Amino acid sequence: MMSDKKRIAIITGASSGFGRLFAVELEKNLDLEEIWLIARRSEKLEETASMLERVKGTIIIADLSTPEGIDIITKKVEFEKPSVRVLINNAGFGRSEEFIKGDEKYYSEMIDVNIKAPVLLTKRLLKYMSEGSKILNVASSAAFAPLPYFAVYAASKAFLLSFSYALDQEFKDKDISVTCVCPGPARTEFFKTKQKSVGGLKIEDPQKIVEKALKDMKNKKNISIYGYQANLLRMISKFLPRKCLAWTAGKIKMPK
Ligand SMILES: NC(=O)c1ccc[n+]([C@@H]2O[C@H](COP(=O)([O-])OP(=O)(O)OC[C@H]3O[C@@H](n4cnc5c(N)ncnc54)[C@H](OP(=O)(O)O)[C@@H]3O)[C@@H](O)[C@H]2O)c1
Repeated sequence: MMSDKKRIAIITGASSGFGRLFAVELEKNLDLEEIWLIARRSEKLEETASMLERVKGTIIIADLSTPEGIDIITKKVEFEKPSVRVLINNAGFGRSEEFIKGDEKYYSEMIDVNIKAPVLLTKRLLKYMSEGSKILNVASSAAFAPLPYFAVYAASKAFLLSFSYALDQEFKDKDISVTCVCPGPARTEFFKTKQKSVGGLKIEDPQKIVEKALKDMKNKKNISIYGYQANLLRMISKFLPRKCLAWTAGKIKMPK
């Protein structure tokens, strides 16, 4: 029997980059009534909402580095009691720098947005998910290896990768799947550089990454990797010891 609950998707970091593309692609691919678009910049979220043709884009302004930001989302879910068909934990940030020079507050916020927000949102929204609901966590190919000069970011994405595999197993009996997206460099606000490559890696088209991610999510794959570069990185990371991976990665020049 069809439930009379509103069928929604929730996307964090929907004001730009992958998050915006996920919103546009989701409405084409799934039978949804609303997509909840979450980020801090309201005008950018309005732009994303205006790109949706069939599905209502509901804007939620929330700073996910704060407990209040996460509460805003959970309170709205608790009030409306929708059926959460898809949760995309996509918001995240990082930059390349020497750890010793990095700002403590910046790292703390990065951990809150990249790790704490996906954990708490998944935990709190799970009771609004049911058979066939999907969780998509946006990690990075940085999850595959320890990255000097990107240490906290890479570790935060390794967390998300491990977390995704574990939860996918735990939720098998509920038929809720968890897919982890591990993109290499892609042209979004994350990499503002005009260069064609970073650290020897070609900067990919984010549209292709998003299309593949949604296909892999639909097919309940554990991991979604687009392109030969990211696939190669994953393969190498399976064979080389972490020390060796870290040494090699430390030689790569990343844009500031
Ligand atoms: N582009 C790449 O090369 C690449 C590669 C691998 C993985 N990724 C991952 O992909 C995800 C999306 O990044 P992107 O490439 O699309 O970059 P982006 O265009 O910079 O998007 C980042 C999104 O995260 C949101 N965000 C950041 N801090 C937030 C906070 N405190 N509270 C709420 N929202 C916050 C931003 O929204 P507001 O600023 O409006 O709040 C924005 O919508 C990230 O998790 C990133 O780590 C990116």
